Amino acid sequence: MSVVGARPNFMKIAPFIQAIDRHNGAGGEQIDHVLVHTGQHYDDRMSASFFESLGIPAPDVNLEIGSGSHGVQLGQTMMAFEPVVVEHDPDWIVVVGDVNATLSCSVIAKRLKKKVAHIEAGLRSGDIGMPEEINRLVTDRLSDLLLTPDRISGENLAREGVPEERIRFVGNIMIDTLEKSREGAASGIVSEIIRANVIGGQPKKEISLADNTYGLMTMHRPSNVDHRPILTALMRFLMDEATQRLPLVWALHPRTRKQLQAFGLWDEVLSHPRLLLLEPIGYHAMLRLNMGAKIMLTDSGGLQEECCVLGTPCLTLRFNTERPITLREHGGASVLVGNDVEHIRRELDATLNLPNRPVSPEYWDGKTADRIVAAIMATTRQVVAA
Ligand code: UD1
Repeated sequence: MSVVGARPNFMKIAPFIQAIDRHNGAGGEQIDHVLVHTGQHYDDRMSASFFESLGIPAPDVNLEIGSGSHGVQLGQTMMAFEPVVVEHDPDWIVVVGDVNATLSCSVIAKRLKKKVAHIEAGLRSGDIGMPEEINRLVTDRLSDLLLTPDRISGENLAREGVPEERIRFVGNIMIDTLEKSREGAASGIVSEIIRANVIGGQPKKEISLADNTYGLMTMHRPSNVDHRPILTALMRFLMDEATQRLPLVWALHPRTRKQLQAFGLWDEVLSHPRLLLLEPIGYHAMLRLNMGAKIMLTDSGGLQEECCVLGTPCLTLRFNTERPITLREHGGASVLVGNDVEHIRRELDATLNLPNRPVSPEYWDGKTADRIVAAIMATTRQVVAA
């Protein structure tokens, strides 16, 4: 049984399911698979469109949890997930990433004495103030098989005392999706993507943007968007200064849209001539816009990784990262700038002079999902033999 809940899970589960199909197609021991969607993300643009475009089968079970406070989301997911596990009685429960679904379902899985495999184990920001860091710590502590995306993650787990035999370095599963989608996405046309996704109510803005002439932006972390003074200062810098350097294309997360409205910033943002607001966009659209971007500004972990492989110079709007391998000091494309305007200004100017320089870290090769299925099957055989 595998579990997804929120947008960044979908590009991680798609290759896993395809690898199960390949495994079953090769004959031998067959894997029965049940896909559970907790329903944390439920909008078409945040969820259903990814199932369609990434070829993920419809979930066998949808818990339809929706939005709510941390307690409501975590608690309701646990309550709804428990009978599903009892009914299907899987040998393994596979959780991905660091969203609320990952935490809730791994806790219930262990309570019901199921084996848990965690895809994307061992990432650590060291910032316990982030909900995702708590989700990572709890999930990894409970998991029987910790599937790591890079060597640094394995070192983190070893330092925390995780027995070596539980850790498998398999690579970054999201890059499986990127490699599979790269060619198709490259044929997309930037102005058409913008036209199809532009948020209504904006005055006429320039949408025929050539490659290498625009910046691409996403921002949704509570630390950036939930506090009025922080979001206001960021928006002032972006509207008054950053857009003087180049136009910014911004795929807006629902949380951020709500906060801009709540803080009275919405009208100005919407009417700014060089800030082009898009609805949440699909996977291939984002990949294409990233390929053509001169620079990325983001607080998303997944986009930091995609920028690393595509080579897009990236300003990471965070003070820390659980993905240090994406940083320039480790050979990647990104630099941490937090939400401190002085720092962002300095790095923006320096970064605009950098060339596009793609780097694929070890095992970010498009074959991670096959390694994961092999690791789960090998562990199952060991347990049976014991
Ligand atoms: C969640 C994940 C985060 C991930 C992000 C990607 C956790 C703790 N956080 O954060 O790690 O990077 O997803 O998107 O799991 N909303 C909609 N439509 C939707 C989904 C959400 O309008 O389909 C609104 C909700 O009403 C809510 C807000 O967006 O107010 C935030 O949603 P939530 O799922 O709580 O967290 P995210 O910020 O999306």
